[in-house]
This record gives sequence, structure tokens and C-alpha cells, in this order.
Amino acid sequence: MNDIPAAKTLVPSNAMTADIPESLHANFAAEAQRVANKFGAAHTRRVLIVGGAGYIGAPVTEYLLRQGYAVRCLDRLVYNNASTVAGFLSHPDYEFVLGDMGDAAILNKALDDVTDVVILAGLVGDPITKKFPDAAHDVNDVAISTCIDQLADHNLNKVIFVSTCSNYGMIAEDAMADEDFELNPLSLYAKSKVAAERKILGQKGKVDYHPTVLRFATAFGFAPRMRFDLTVNEFTRELQQDKELLVYDGHTWRPYCHVHDFARLIHRVLGFGVGDVSFEVFNAGGDKNNHTKQNIVDLVCERLPGRKVAYKENSDDPRNYKVSFEKVRTRLCFEPAMSVADGIDEILWALENRLLQDVDSRRDFYGNYNLLG
Ligand SMILES: NC(=O)c1ccc[n+]([C@@H]2O[C@H](COP(=O)([O-])OP(=O)(O)OC[C@H]3O[C@@H](n4cnc5c(N)ncnc54)[C@H](O)[C@@H]3O)[C@@H](O)[C@H]2O)c1
Repeated sequence: MNDIPAAKTLVPSNAMTADIPESLHANFAAEAQRVANKFGAAHTRRVLIVGGAGYIGAPVTEYLLRQGYAVRCLDRLVYNNASTVAGFLSHPDYEFVLGDMGDAAILNKALDDVTDVVILAGLVGDPITKKFPDAAHDVNDVAISTCIDQLADHNLNKVIFVSTCSNYGMIAEDAMADEDFELNPLSLYAKSKVAAERKILGQKGKVDYHPTVLRFATAFGFAPRMRFDLTVNEFTRELQQDKELLVYDGHTWRPYCHVHDFARLIHRVLGFGVGDVSFEVFNAGGDKNNHTKQNIVDLVCERLPGRKVAYKENSDDPRNYKVSFEKVRTRLCFEPAMSVADGIDEILWALENRLLQDVDSRRDFYGNYNLLG
């Protein structure tokens, strides 16, 4: 008899159940009371996720639905990524709206009866913005600006704007970038993010909602819209397929974070007292997940010995930054549950169990390589 394949859930139990530490229960209860006073005790907390059909949007949707929130997704499906939301459509508290965040009429309609907003939409990453600079400007500068302009006077509670640690660019080898560190965006992508951050943080005193900026580390992990154009996912897939992996600038540091941990953090910000998060910026990740590319290759090769890896220096992407996550750890008691090694194991398991199929023939589906929709 053949061995029965090991069963596995892709959601680690500690990431979901040990969610809110006991020390935060009073803070969450006070915030829930404030929200009940604002909207009425029976009002559903409905979150509009702009860009909710993307790689990070799907785990955030799943997590918030699980926590009892209603979710409305507004997405343009630029990668023909409709299948990402297919599994949510039968959920009674889920709605999908096809549209561009830069279309004020559609956005205003999507904002109807919403309590909070999470902004994830954009052309994401250096390569796609470099390849399509005009489209990147239309989305990451113009549409995002229109979107931010529409948010006032909708009786919203919180608005979470998702930015990136890429804003730190290249920093000294012995430095750790905290939130006050000088921003040094090196790419079109990061420059647009810095401008959008400044715009949303510049609304103080002018708007009736509470914004928070989260500077995300580089994401990894399995999700319904898988992205293999991200370091941990890409290295794992290439080596699992026994291809020779070419690594540029193996010594360079970046922080990484699992998509489910981002979902936990967004939930935490939504639940936290406004005094702790309003007009605040947080680096989103954990110190233990700062790695060099070489570290990541080593972690994959421990699991897949004997694979071929080549190294090259001086690529056209000079980013090199270690990030401090002390503020999110001390102020929001947030520590990622998943390590990079956990993420590699998860992706290997998903590949081996055919949860990620035709990764070569459907390349454009599995990453931000080309604009399709
Ligand atoms: N993935 C990472 O490693 C990472 C790291 C740091 C920050 N972030 C940030 O997290 C957010 C989500 O990233 P992701 O990895 O899920 O990217 P993604 O490309 O998978 O998702 C982006 C989504 O936005 C949608 N979209 C694009 N333009 C739109 C528009 N004009 N109107 C409506 N929808 C539009 C796309 O269709 C897509 O579904 C982005 O803001 C990104 O900058 C991601």
C-alpha cells in the first residue's frame, strides 16, 4: 500500500488562535466600546479592502471574515486574478466590486456603509513599475491620490495604508531602520509609496478618520494568489524544480514577513485603541526575519541538498536594509508567528501536493510580471 501523504493545514494554529495576548484584552474591549458608540452596538464592522484580490489581500480577507468582520473588496484585477476571490463569494459577509480605486464614483459607492478601509492596491514591486512606468504613475501616484481624497466625510473609523520597508532603500551595514529613519526610496515604486504616505499623514486635522501607515517587510508564504516574484517564494520554487538559481547580491539584507502575519497585524490595528494607532507609522514584521539572500538560499538548500546556485554582484537593485520592528513589538505587542524557514516548508509542501500547478506555463498568473486586465 502506498504511503498516505501527510495532511497539513496552511494556516499555522498559533498564528490564528494566540492572536490577542491577554495584556491587550482591555485595550480591545475599550476600542470595541468606542466603535459601538460611534456606529451602534448592532452595526457590522465592514472593511473595504482596496486591492483585496491580490497576494496579501486574500489572506487578510480570510482572516477578517474569520474574526467576524464583513469584507468588501474593490479590485481592478490587473493580473486577471479573479480566481483569488472565488472561494469567498459564497460567504454571506463578503462582497466583490470590480473597479479602479482612482474612479471616484465607483469608490464612493464601494465606501457606502463601510466602517474601515485597508488600502493594498497598486502596481506592486520594482520590476513591474520599471517595465510599465506610465501605468505605474497612473495607479501608484494618480489613482492612489484620488482614492485618499475620497475617504473624508464617509463616517469612517480607521484607514490602514499599506506601504513598504523598501522606502529605506540602502542603509549602513551596521544600522537598523526604525520608523524615524530617513527615507531613501530608490525605485519608482518606493518613491510613489513615500509620496502616498506623506499625503495620508498630511491629513491630520482635516479628516474624520484615523489613518495608520504600515511599512510591510517583503512578503512570503502560500496564498490563493501566489506571487513567485518575491525572494523566499522564488528561491524555493526554483530550487524545488531543480533549476539553477541565480542570486544577485547575496550579502544584501531585507526583512521578510509571512502573509498570515500581515493579516494578524491588520486585524490588530483595526482592534487597537485609536490613541495608539491614529496617524502612526509602524514597520510591519519582526527582527528575527531580517535575512540576507544568502541566508535564504542556505535555508532552502538545507531542505533540498545538492541544488545548483550561482551568485552575481552589482545588480541594478542596490537595496540593502535591516529594519527594526521594536515599535510594533512594544506598542502593539506584535511578533510574527512564522519564520522564513516555516514559509519555505509551507511552499515546498504546497508544491509537492500540487496546490501550485503549472507554475511555468502560467508564469504571468503567479507574479507581477505583466499587466493583463
Ligand atoms: N508583497 C510584498 O512583498 C509587499 C511588501 C511590502 C509592501 N507591500 C504592499 O502590500 C500591498 C499588497 O501587495 P501584494 O503583494 O498583495 O500585491 P498584488 O499585486 O498581489 O496585489 C495588488 C492588487 O491591487 C489590484 N489593483 C492594482 N491597481 C488597482 C487599482 N487602480 N484599483 C483597484 N485595484 C487595483 C490588483 O489587481 C491586485 O489584486 C501593496 O500596497 C504593496 O505595496 C507588499
